[in-house]
Amino acid sequence: AVGHPLKGKRVLVTSGPTREPIDPVRYISNHSSGKQGHAIAKAAAEAGAEVTLVTGPVSLADPVGVTVVHVESARDMLAAVEAALPADIAVFAAAVADWRVASVADNKLKKGAGGPPSLAFVENPDILATIAKHGSKRPQLVVGFAAETEAVVDNARAKLARKGCDLIVANDVAPGTGTFGGDANTVHLVTPDSVETWDRQSKDGVARALVTRLAEMIAKA
Ligand code: C5P
Repeated sequence: AVGHPLKGKRVLVTSGPTREPIDPVRYISNHSSGKQGHAIAKAAAEAGAEVTLVTGPVSLADPVGVTVVHVESARDMLAAVEAALPADIAVFAAAVADWRVASVADNKLKKGAGGPPSLAFVENPDILATIAKHGSKRPQLVVGFAAETEAVVDNARAKLARKGCDLIVANDVAPGTGTFGGDANTVHLVTPDSVETWDRQSKDGVARALVTRLAEMIAKA
């Protein structure tokens, strides 16, 4: 239907940072605001899709008309994403922490004679790669993001292949671009055989244009 190009489609979106605990009161995280992911969830809902948004802790309101699942750690996010399948389209916009602390202390770590603690890390699951490589439950369209500070398009191409997704939305987050936490974004759409650079625009604008593109891709597939 005109105006509702995703009617009848199920869309899954991840957004925001994850929080990886150190002890009961401390964590490791990053500066992701969730603005781009939340905007995509909203735009997909406005395009008529049934949308589930799995988000880490952000200061944004839940988008209207979207089923929102709040999580903290990467492992919780993976479990929530798997529980939200099947989906026709999955967009992974979350800034998932690459590592978590290997053994989370049961009690608050104390200052003391032993000096500062040393933390050992283990790798978190790659949620995007896990879902893109799911046999039967793989969504028809799997979209990843790439936040790069250099060689943006080359790095995105490599990521596309490594993660097994259909499209990478690459953005330049080099210091001075104002992308991280800001309201505007310059993105490059990278597929196995094309690269397109979009004019700098609001994250809402990127979200609407991306949703339009995804609707075209899924209609053609
Ligand atoms: O490898 P890198 O973190 O640059 O990849 C970014 C893309 O992969 C984003 O789409 C992000 O949401 C996703 N990702 C993920 N799980 C991870 C790491 C990244 O889903 N553990």
